[in-house]
Amino acid sequence: MNENKIIITGGAGFVGRNLVEYFKIMKVAIILGTRPEIIKMAPIIRACEKSKIDYFILHTGQHYSYNLDKLFFEELELPKPKYNLEVGSGTHAEETGKMLIGIERILKKEKPSLILVEGDTNTVLAGALAASKLHIKVGHVEAGLRSCDRRMPEEINRLLTDHTSDFLFAPTQSANRNLLREGIDKNKIFITGNTIVDAIYQNLELANKKSNILKDLNLTKRKYILVTAHREENVDNESRLKGILDGLEKTYKEFNFMVIYPIHPRAKKKIEKFNLKVPEGIKLIEPISFLEFLQLEANAKLVLTDSGGVQEETCILKIPCVTLRDNTERPETLEVGSNILAGTHPKKILECAKLMSDKERKWENPFGDGKAGERILKILKEKL
Ligand code: UD1
Ligand code: UDP
Repeated sequence: MNENKIIITGGAGFVGRNLVEYFKIMKVAIILGTRPEIIKMAPIIRACEKSKIDYFILHTGQHYSYNLDKLFFEELELPKPKYNLEVGSGTHAEETGKMLIGIERILKKEKPSLILVEGDTNTVLAGALAASKLHIKVGHVEAGLRSCDRRMPEEINRLLTDHTSDFLFAPTQSANRNLLREGIDKNKIFITGNTIVDAIYQNLELANKKSNILKDLNLTKRKYILVTAHREENVDNESRLKGILDGLEKTYKEFNFMVIYPIHPRAKKKIEKFNLKVPEGIKLIEPISFLEFLQLEANAKLVLTDSGGVQEETCILKIPCVTLRDNTERPETLEVGSNILAGTHPKKILECAKLMSDKERKWENPFGDGKAGERILKILKEKL
């Protein structure tokens, strides 16, 4: 059997209860706080709306700049959060601590039967911790990912969240195996696919119709390179950040294709702080909307990134990806051949960019069938 093919589990029906009964007993708090969580929770929010489940959105305010936050609610036509804790930025402890206090207060008032969190941010950990101590059930969407690098804040968040969760929605077999290896009860794990596939399928056509970003940036299909880099371990480290910029310069000179870099505020601040020069051929732009980003991704020659979501999206869209990290919690992308690990050494970045640019784009998508959001809700209705 192809290891990357997902066997979807947990799809059985409503086992004897009627819909009205479900709506009475189930109240879901969707807790989110950053750009990728908004994008990846959107399919679940849509599924909640469609099936008229009693739910509300609790936004921690970890991301608050318009183009990392409200832009996505507007573009994806999502309902406004019922609560926004407005915790803003800070150290890990400051962010997580403020979130814990705020989330606990709201959960005590609203008394949901379950909270849902998605991914590996400080928001996810705070949501899972606050809920589990109130004996409210926790569902973790995108459970079981492991980079096996405990220096990454995201790895700590994933581990702790998975081990306090009651429902672990593993996107792939590989994530399922990680959870089983750590002794998590198999009855809590459901392999559902990743909701990013749903988000892409639901929005790609719209992106092609609505987004003019190629025209606006004067770009020709397959004749530009797209970049994102924002991870703490890369951009907060001067030599790694310089390595990435030098690697991008080498890549630009090799291909003579413009390098477009929608820059996360964290990376922008660090380039300024370290007084680094942005090399010729690299065009920094403000973070863009999901539809615009999808359009840029789908038509790029190559994508270089340290983002988790972008590694998945390029794999699904069949665009070769070079990951500017030493490890990945998305090994499926390496296995199918859509992605390669380059680290941050300039020569290695160029070498990997050359290798991937010749890649035949015929791998299979290992992340599911685009129905993860609906599947997750169905499982919850059945089990709660
Ligand atoms: C967070 C997640 C990371 C995820 C990323 C998605 C954690 C530990 N990290 O990283 O896993 O990949 O979100 O984008 O949760 N800032 C703004 N405006 C904002 C938000 C942040 O300017 O709306 C700037 C601030 O200077 C802030 C810095 O970005 O200090 C970092 O923000 P933070 O939310 O702490 O982490 P991210 O790097 O965004
Ligand atoms: N993205 C976006 N606009 C941008 C850059 C990224 O909409 O300017 C989207 C991208 O399509 C993906 C998500 O943001 O779905 C990835 O978020 P990010 O890289 O911030 O976080 P990570 O996935 O690394 O946690």
